[in-house]
Amino acid sequence: MLYELARNCPPWANALEIGSHLGASACYIAAGLVHVRGRMFCVDTWNNETMPEGEQDTFAVFKRNTRQISDLIIVVRKRSEELVESEINLPLSLVFIDGDHSYSAVKTDFEKVSPWVGVGGVIAFHDSTTIFPGVPQVIGEALATGTWSLSGYVESLCWLTRVETSN
Ligand SMILES: C[S@@+](CC[C@H](N)C(=O)[O-])C[C@H]1O[C@@H](n2cnc3c(N)ncnc32)[C@H](O)[C@@H]1O
Repeated sequence: MLYELARNCPPWANALEIGSHLGASACYIAAGLVHVRGRMFCVDTWNNETMPEGEQDTFAVFKRNTRQISDLIIVVRKRSEELVESEINLPLSLVFIDGDHSYSAVKTDFEKVSPWVGVGGVIAFHDSTTIFPGVPQVIGEALATGTWSLSGYVESLCWLTRVETSN
């Protein structure tokens, strides 16, 4: 589905992923972006925060797993809450939020990236389940603003489309 969402982006699209880990989702998004000559920004500490295996440096594995799509990826190694607009290209056509799944972190990520997404752009959330109740809570709050429309979901992946310019 991430591949399809990326493939449906407009030409020269910018995509952003928060939480790239070992690069699996980045590979699917980049594979879709190939078709529209897009590129993506991958944001992660690559210190494995919030992951069950505990903290460890995963950057070398990410780099190895994404070597075939390295031309499409711009790495931003930092905490997502510290990301600033000047580090990426706007507007964003696709954002995938899959970092820290706590309510406060997902809310912070969403509120940060939301103004960077144009009308028709998509924000996808991973792990929208009762195991991570903060994720569906943020999705519900986003829908309640009227700025976002529920576009679809597959298992725990849920994606919204911006329908209004203001929050
Ligand atoms: C569930 S994994 C991402 C999986 C990846 N999207 C995939 O499907 O292949 C979560 C990642 O978020 C990162 N992470 C956790 N908290 C973060 C934060 N505050 N800022 C940036 N990255 C964070 C972790 O280091 C980890 O690599």
